[in-house]
Order: sequence, then C-alpha cells, then structure tokens
Amino acid sequence: MSEIIRIDELEFVKLIESREIKRRIELMSTIMTEDLEDSDPLFLVVLNGAFIFGADLVRKFHFECDIEFINANSYDGMERKDVKGVNAGDLHFVKDRNVVVVEDIVDSGHTIECILEACKANGAKTIRIAAFLSKPSAFTKEMDIDYVGFEIAPQFVIGYGLDYNGKGRNLKDIYQIRPIME
Ligand code: IMP
Ligand code: MG
Repeated sequence: MSEIIRIDELEFVKLIESREIKRRIELMSTIMTEDLEDSDPLFLVVLNGAFIFGADLVRKFHFECDIEFINANSYDGMERKDVKGVNAGDLHFVKDRNVVVVEDIVDSGHTIECILEACKANGAKTIRIAAFLSKPSAFTKEMDIDYVGFEIAPQFVIGYGLDYNGKGRNLKDIYQIRPIME
C-alpha cells in the first residue's frame, strides 16, 4: 500500500520519488552548467518554497556564481492570493547581472511574472527561470521557462520545500493531494 501523508483534514499520496528528483536535478545541472558556466550568474532563490531545490541545485555547480534570496508568498492553504512580498526596491543587486530565478513551482505564473518585472526594473542584464515544478495547464498566459524539473497536472502538491499551510516542506518526495472519495 502506498504511503499516505495526512495534514489537517487532507490526504496526500506520493507523486515523485526522491531518487527520481536527484536524477532530474543532476541532468538539469549539467544542462545549466553548459549554458551558465562562463557568465558569473546570480541565482535568485525564491523563498520559502525553493530553499531545498535551490540548495540541491547550486551545490552541483563548480563555477563562480552568487546566490541571493527573495521572499514571495501567494498561497493561503490551497487558495491562491495576490503575491505579497516581491519588492522591486530589494533587488538592486541584480543590476547588470545574468540572473537565474530559482522557483519551486510555476502555477498561474503570476509570482514569476512579478519577479521578472522586478528584475527588469532593477536592470538585470539577462533573466532566466529554473523551476523545479511547472503546471502548464494552470498558466494564465504563455510562459517560457528555461529549465523545468517536472511538468505536473494542476493539482496541489507538497514536499521538497513545498508546503500546505507551512507543513510538508521537509518531505523528501513530492506528494499530491488525494481527491476526496464521494
Ligand atoms: P503562481 O503565482 O500561481 O505561479 O504560484 C506560484 C507560487 O505558489 C509558488 O512559488 C508556490 O510557492 C505556490 N504554489 C503553487 N502551487 C503550489 C502547490 O501545488 N503546492 C504548494 N505551493 C504551491
Ligand atoms: Mg514559490
């Protein structure tokens, strides 16, 4: 029987195993190294959700780079809210840099759009996106994500940094919400 994680009244079932995650990040980092190794990139890790993905990814790189953090938060439970905490004024350090935004998941795309705008407004030289997960069918407009870990269906997921009301971030695998049986 597959393992079930319970948080509050909800049940989650395993979607992506940690072994598969490791393999995928290895491959992503190889591709990213080819693209980025000579550009002294600045990795902009979006907190809180991308803290594990960001940590695993940047430790694969053996070239010179900077790592900075930005806080963006748009979810309350499973309900999407307006993005709070993306403040263009905080991003002065992206000026003239080759920026790679490191996100846990792109859902509607609203958060990443706000961050891209803020990077542009602060004079980033180039901007790329690395997202661990992507839900393309939830995008509200067409989006070009440079590096994607896994494309998933538009269901709510937790684990590997992603949370439900603050819980589940520590899980090493990705779990998806289990539909409630009638
Ligand atoms: P977007 O602005 O709709 O693209 O939402 C992106 C942000 O919402 C991500 O950075 C996550 O922090 C959060 N988010 C979106 N989908 C999920 C999910 O399935 N589980 C946990 N957090 C999510
Ligand atoms: Mg996030």
